[in-house]
Amino acid sequence: MCQQRRVRAVYTMPTLHNPLGWVLNTGQRQALADLARQHDLLIIEDAAYARLVSRPPPPVVSYAPERTVYVTGFSKNIATGLRVGVVISPPRYRPEIERAIRATTWNTPTLISSLICAWIEDGTVARFETQKRQDARQRQQVAREVLCGLPVVSHPDSYFVWLPLGEESRADRLANALMERRISVSTAEPFCVSATIPQALRIALGSVPFDSLRPALLSVRDAVEYEQYR
Ligand SMILES: Cc1ncc(COP(=O)(O)O)c(C=O)c1O
Repeated sequence: MCQQRRVRAVYTMPTLHNPLGWVLNTGQRQALADLARQHDLLIIEDAAYARLVSRPPPPVVSYAPERTVYVTGFSKNIATGLRVGVVISPPRYRPEIERAIRATTWNTPTLISSLICAWIEDGTVARFETQKRQDARQRQQVAREVLCGLPVVSHPDSYFVWLPLGEESRADRLANALMERRISVSTAEPFCVSATIPQALRIALGSVPFDSLRPALLSVRDAVEYEQYR
């Protein structure tokens, strides 16, 4: 692609891709850094979910620090409402990033930033992250039990499951049928960058109380099987 088009940047989620849960291994990270150097690309490393992974490989920024902008936050590893981000960037990009922040959000929210800084320093962030990882693993375990036999794509540390459906299934019809049962799932459409959209569901595991998860997933399983054999 770099030979055919003028590519300037690569956006990547190397550590817990949303929605597939993929984690690039160290060889793939090195290959990405080499490619970026060869074609003078900027790498944008979206690490929103990275801290959910128990023993992640080194971040891509450590392979190509001179050309990687590393972005993360606290909404996935700590609490959904903590919408404050962190950007680690080579000095040459900082003026543009600062201008973009000013043009979009004006500045970072002071109270949330000071709360997070205090929580980092007193160990609260580390403690919450440990709890989150345990919670995600337990929920993923429930999902794997309930959806056993279906072609589930997910990472054991993640809060979501990608469920490809058969060719004959219609993800939008399935999502609507589940909505009637008050269960909300995503289709592939919001995640898709290609012209053809696969028939698949993204099932979030974190937004319901733990005790409701199994019954909700059983309803998803019923609906998927009904859709396949209707
Ligand atoms: C892959 C990915 N990156 C970034 C974000 C943004 O997170 P935040 O709203 O905490 O900035 C999300 C949120 O859904 C996400 O899924």
